Amino acid sequence: MPPLPFALFAALSLAGLALVRSLLRHRQEAALAREAADAASRREALRQHETKLAHALRINSMGEMASGIAHELTQPLTALLSQSQAGRRIAAANGLADSPIDTVLAANVQQAKRAADILVRLRAYVGRSAAEAGVHDLARHVADIVALSRIDLDRRGIALAVDLPGAPAPARVDPVEIEQVIHNLIRNAADAVEQAGRANGRVAVALAPEGAGHAITVRDNGAGIPPEILPRLFEPFFSSKPDGMGLGLSLCESIVERFDGSISAENGAEGGAVFTVRLPGARDMREREEATE
Ligand SMILES: Nc1ncnc2c1ncn2[C@@H]1O[C@H](COP(=O)(O)OP(=O)(O)OP(=O)(O)O)[C@@H](O)[C@H]1O
Ligand SMILES: [Mg+2]
Repeated sequence: MPPLPFALFAALSLAGLALVRSLLRHRQEAALAREAADAASRREALRQHETKLAHALRINSMGEMASGIAHELTQPLTALLSQSQAGRRIAAANGLADSPIDTVLAANVQQAKRAADILVRLRAYVGRSAAEAGVHDLARHVADIVALSRIDLDRRGIALAVDLPGAPAPARVDPVEIEQVIHNLIRNAADAVEQAGRANGRVAVALAPEGAGHAITVRDNGAGIPPEILPRLFEPFFSSKPDGMGLGLSLCESIVERFDGSISAENGAEGGAVFTVRLPGARDMREREEATE
């Protein structure tokens, strides 16, 4: 081949090659940028979900705490009231009807009535059901909350397994509240595993059909629940943790019962605790449209 056309051919080939390489690099860069944007928007969605859940948890915990306090205080307050009234009757029977002791007891009666009245209003306030129940797919919400909890459990070096059914699991629930229930159970399970100092800490969440409803189980390989505390687990303010409020499980129970479900705790056959939430099934997801119309 003569030298000139050969040089021309070589230059053109090199230029073509450079063009193809630059095109490929551009495509690669665009794909990487797209991936980074997708990851950022996934992170943002997760963060928003976390914020929403934390907000609902604060509101619900406050309600649970208020109703727990109202419950605990009602009994001593009633006793104080009836004892003071009895005191006034005794004073009157002994000719001390308008004596200073009767005035003191009358003031006690009045203040105890006032406090009882505040408790009645408090209970009525927190008793308002704010549940936004519609028919939702439990499988989706279990998956969502597991994804969120995984971040925390990864940090703590605890494995989190999940077993979901292939088909949707429709139930009439408030999805944020049900996520809260599972979140609390996973947190407790992780605490138990950590407390037991397990090297191979593991929490397993499963959702499966049970009769006409659904059963969600959260099991761990911690030390299990000591038999003497089993009957007290769901009491408000019962906690065996130094920094525990003891509201998690009582909140779970209130929420689940509001949706006609139940929650129970037992020790697993291979050690560790198993918490089971049972919820009635809904006919199908179409009810959701009916519910939101
Ligand atoms: N998976 C578990 N294994 C063993 N014990 C558990 C488990 N889950 C709960 N418990 C026991 O039940 C108690 C009550 O749990 P609950 O979630 O109501 O309160 P808490 O975790 O102590 O505090 P809070 O949830 O308000 O931060 C715990 O303190 C613990 O003793
Ligand atoms: Mg808890």
